[in-house]
Amino acid sequence: MSVTIKTPDEIEKMRLAGKLASEVLDYITPYVKPGITTGELDRLCHDFMVNEQKTVPAPLNYAPPGHIPFPRSICTSVNHVICHGIPGDRVLKHADIINLDITVIKDGFHGDTSRMFYVGQTSIQAKRLCEITYECMWIGIDQVQPGAYLGDIGHAIQQHAERNGYSIVREFCGHGIGKRFHEDPQVLHYGRPGTGLKLQEGMIFTIEPMINAGRRDIRQLADGWTIVTKDHSLSAQWEHTILVTDRGYEVLTQSEGTPSKPAFLSSTTHA
Ligand code: MF3
Ligand code: CO
Ligand code: CO
Repeated sequence: MSVTIKTPDEIEKMRLAGKLASEVLDYITPYVKPGITTGELDRLCHDFMVNEQKTVPAPLNYAPPGHIPFPRSICTSVNHVICHGIPGDRVLKHADIINLDITVIKDGFHGDTSRMFYVGQTSIQAKRLCEITYECMWIGIDQVQPGAYLGDIGHAIQQHAERNGYSIVREFCGHGIGKRFHEDPQVLHYGRPGTGLKLQEGMIFTIEPMINAGRRDIRQLADGWTIVTKDHSLSAQWEHTILVTDRGYEVLTQSEGTPSKPAFLSSTTHA
C-alpha cells in the first residue's frame, strides 16, 4: 500500500466526513455523566449517525486482519483502557475518564476523531494526564507542513510526554485515511526528527497519541479488541484527522464544540 495524495474533490469530501465525526462528539458530550453506560453512549451515537447524519459508523463490523469484527459503532475507553474499548454494560461513575473515538463514513470517505471526557469531578492527576495528552496531539499537529518528516511529529510528541513523566504507547499509531479507514502511512507518536516519510501537500492522516501515566506496556483483553495498560495506570488519547496544505495543515475534524488549540501554541500559524 502506498501513501495517496488526495485530489481537491476528495479533500472536500474528507472535510465533510471530518466535520460530521466531530459533530458526533459535540452531540454526545452532554450525555457523558455518572450513571450512563458505555452501551447507551454507543446507541445514542449510532442512532445519531445513521438517522440524523446519514453516515455509516466505520467501527461497526470492522475486521482488520487478525481481528474479529468490532461489534459496536464507537470505541469507549475508560480509565486504564488505552483504546478500542467495546461499549457495553459498564456504568460511568464520578471521577472516571473516558475516550470516545468516532469514525464516520460519508460519501465513501472517513473522518476519525476522539476526545477525552471527565465524568463528574475528576482527580487532578487524571486531568493533568488528559491535558498533557491534548498538548501532545497539538504539538504533533503543529509540526505538519510540506517538507517536514513524520519523525518530526513523533519526536515532538514523545518529548512532551516523557518530559512530563508519561510514556507513549508504541503498538498503535496514527494512520493515513480516506476511502479506507486505515491507510499508509503509519504515524508513530515517537521517533527522531528528520526521519521517515517526507510530508507533501494533499496527504491526509490522523495524529492520535495514546499516553500512559505509568509504564508503556499494554495487554489485550480476551474480547479480542480492548487494549489496557499492563500496570493498570490511567491512559489518555486525543485524535484529529489532518490535511497537509501548501503552507502547513488543516484540521479536518472540526466543529462547533472542538476544543481550541492550546494557548502556548496559538502564535504559530501554519494553517
Ligand atoms: N478509531 C480508531 C482509530 O483511531 C480505530 C478503531 S478500530 C475499531 O484508528 F474497530 F475498534 F473501531
Ligand atoms: Co484513527
Ligand atoms: Co479513531
